[in-house]
Amino acid sequence: MDMKTIYLIGFMGSGKSTVGKAYAQKYSKTYVDTDDYIEVFYGQKISEIFKNCGEKVFRTFETEILAKTTLYEVVSTGGGIIEHVENIQIMQKNGIIIYLHTSFAEIEKRLKDDRQRPLWNHENLNEKKGLYDRRISIYRKYADFIIQTDQKSEAEIVNGIKKCITGE
Ligand code: S3P
Repeated sequence: MDMKTIYLIGFMGSGKSTVGKAYAQKYSKTYVDTDDYIEVFYGQKISEIFKNCGEKVFRTFETEILAKTTLYEVVSTGGGIIEHVENIQIMQKNGIIIYLHTSFAEIEKRLKDDRQRPLWNHENLNEKKGLYDRRISIYRKYADFIIQTDQKSEAEIVNGIKKCITGE
């Protein structure tokens, strides 16, 4: 069977999990979120893994888990998945990469009260903007498709993914 996994990539707060879940539900696809999988598999919250083991260890967990997701039809990834070239290779080999692009202003709005994301939950706006700017060029570089998400409803983005896949 020739089945390609749909990988959703994008910055924190770009809607990868919400939209991935909605797409999978609408089209009866198997779905997993790498962060959820990590939390279940390692028995710790993402924030605890960062606190107890640091980002470097988290990244090794992330790669290990991504490699386990190849049989899923839709996979929402963590925003930092593109930090490791090995992860990009896994996704390219096994599927289609769709980048959900969200403006920095919109992300700031969406994550204003967020307390779950260690790389966002600090006061240094320059650092966050720097991370965003550095990463968006990587997301763009490896995306097979790019979907703008600002001002779009969940349903519109789900339809956008369908269009990418089928060309309809
Ligand atoms: C991260 C994004 C998070 C999570 C972890 C690190 C990142 O996922 O994997 O906090 O490096 O951008 P979301 O993109 O789902 O927030």
